[in-house]
Amino acid sequence: MTFTEAELLGNHRVAEPLIAGGVRCHGGFDDDGAYVSPRTLHRVPAIDAWLAQNSATFGTSAIEVPLDTWPVHFPNEAQARHLITSGVPEPLIATLTRIGTVEGFGANIRYLEPGDLQPHFDEDIRGTAIDHLGKGLFEAHGRDEAGWEEEAGHKDMWFAARDLAFESPTAKVDIEAMLERMGFGASGGAGSIAERVLPDDVDHNLEIIAGLMVRVLLIEVQAFHTFAWAEAWLSDADLVAGDGRAADLVSYIRADETPHVGYLKTALTEMRDRTWLGSGGRKHAGADMIGRIWDRALDASLGENRRQSRQAILNEVEHWCLRRPDGQDVLAEFHHLADAPAA
Ligand SMILES: [Fe+2]
Ligand SMILES: [Fe+2]
Repeated sequence: MTFTEAELLGNHRVAEPLIAGGVRCHGGFDDDGAYVSPRTLHRVPAIDAWLAQNSATFGTSAIEVPLDTWPVHFPNEAQARHLITSGVPEPLIATLTRIGTVEGFGANIRYLEPGDLQPHFDEDIRGTAIDHLGKGLFEAHGRDEAGWEEEAGHKDMWFAARDLAFESPTAKVDIEAMLERMGFGASGGAGSIAERVLPDDVDHNLEIIAGLMVRVLLIEVQAFHTFAWAEAWLSDADLVAGDGRAADLVSYIRADETPHVGYLKTALTEMRDRTWLGSGGRKHAGADMIGRIWDRALDASLGENRRQSRQAILNEVEHWCLRRPDGQDVLAEFHHLADAPAA
């Protein structure tokens, strides 16, 4: 139940490293050729043990957020295929670039500084995920997303998948202009964690940490829609280049995300089941604290942030379609292929 930072960052031995499009990535393959995620030697069993311990102590089950909380990826698979076969791959190149860029930003979680969180909880936190957030868990997460030393992480793995599928398209696409059009550098979106939703006597740093963890958890779960979508068309050798290697890369990224969902869920469940202590010793039910943070984040995820992200993608689709003489037709068919709106 207790691990050093070095242990939580420890790797399995791999028989062969993962090299994608000439880029040395994290993780690798075991003797049977199965992909092994980085930094999972102790981290994965630790997460399982902490969650089991919490369930045994409090008689509760873990916080869950089902994937179908969110609709499927936009554009959907049929729309993605249509754009490529119509000679308008740029919005997909842009989307893969955007996903990689967002993955890179995910590494910012390592800049959170939990310090000793025990004073903020009534119950003992020794041997919990909460107690290991600043002792390896955030750092492992950051390294997985942005890479570490000579090994590339998810950011560059998405870029490699893009370059395999579209045969190094970056020279043709102005990445800076594209990110600008897709709304980067703008506000941090709705549901900003800077605004407090918890009582004033609750430690502000703890609220920021829990707020970011919930936001990231929702993004991590939702990403499984993105993986399924990307793997579906990137694996089609008749549609894109790379003989399915781009889809394989996405499947490795997907495998690496499981411990991210795991530790965030576990630590947030531990926080939910504990009593929070305000600065004057006032007690607050963890279920109420996590509930308030959760509701705000889910509202933003399903509402304003989703709307902004859809609009950014649509802008990019229109931008590229309308540069073509038959652009209006391609666009009309794109809209025709949209899923029927949910009831
Ligand atoms: Fe990732
Ligand atoms: Fe992740």
